[in-house]
Amino acid sequence: MTQTSSSRPVRPRRSVLYLPATNARALDKLPGLGCDSVIFDLEDSVAPGNKEEARESLRGFFKDGRAKALPAGMETIVRINTLSSPWGGEDLLAARGCKPDAILIPKVETPEDIVAVEDALAQTDAPATLRLWAMIETPRGVMNAGQIARTARTDGARLDCFITGTNDLIKETGVAPLPGRPWLSPWLMQIVLAARAYGIDVLDGVFNDFRNQESLAQECRDGQAMGFDGKTLIHPSQIAPANAAFGIASEQLAEAKAIAAAFALPENQARGVISLDGRMVERLHLDIAERVIEKAALIAAREQGA
Ligand code: COA
Ligand code: MG
Repeated sequence: MTQTSSSRPVRPRRSVLYLPATNARALDKLPGLGCDSVIFDLEDSVAPGNKEEARESLRGFFKDGRAKALPAGMETIVRINTLSSPWGGEDLLAARGCKPDAILIPKVETPEDIVAVEDALAQTDAPATLRLWAMIETPRGVMNAGQIARTARTDGARLDCFITGTNDLIKETGVAPLPGRPWLSPWLMQIVLAARAYGIDVLDGVFNDFRNQESLAQECRDGQAMGFDGKTLIHPSQIAPANAAFGIASEQLAEAKAIAAAFALPENQARGVISLDGRMVERLHLDIAERVIEKAALIAAREQGA
């Protein structure tokens, strides 16, 4: 049976911050930040001449206890260069040695790009718990997004999240980077649909103008309405707006609890559809409500621990 979107695990990934692995001050700041996940970057934010320094800095961070001191539940991801680049092979070994939660592969264009990294990881006896994330950020990546997402359904698969690389997509296609993203959105929606078809998470691209809080908040709300699980970020000031837009509002939680309570009543337990406050509520709404309640609990636990 196909794993549907609603049966994928609930993991809050509201705010996913990129951090160039060479930036010592940013690494120092990280334990005090409230992002759900952090991506230590070895790729585009690190200049070609600094790739080895970036790997060293990352190894140090994971080895000397700083990674263990991060807030409980903060997911760690390492973005490597592509295996076809001069740095990808060594990046993969360094990332594997750090034991992050996931490795992020940039510029994924075909299912084989995922399989190549899975094969390389198998040769290093990587634990089955190590996940792969994939950036969809080229025209071919968007066109093949369904086939790429489908690799998540094969035995021993590691793929569990897509990231839309909007800056690269804009560069590769020539589409205008307009407010509201009118021409980019159809491709973003295609990526969301591909992820959902095979039960993986999907995150929106970055907002470059990091001093503009109002437009960032709007883009976060747009991303949430488009079905993304969260937003990738470049600056600490972007974390709070992303957490707000992709979190659970109190009215949403109250509604979810009301739906769960209504279906739990003895007279409703065998019913597929009920009426609640004048609206039709089906069991599929109960599925959604249960995910909302679980996500709210995970967020609350994380925020208490942060
Ligand atoms: N993660 C953690 N801390 C960060 C950070 C990040 N991504 N970006 C900035 N900070 C820290 C800075 O180190 C600085 O700390 P300090 O006060 O101890 O010196 C503080 O936040 C304020 O930074 P600020 O001066 O406002 O920004 P900046 O001019 O130093 O840096 C960028 C701006 C865009 C260059 C920087 O935010 C950055 O490198 N972002 C990530 C870029 C990236 O990874 N791109 C690849 C994916 S698109
Ligand atoms: Mg990119």
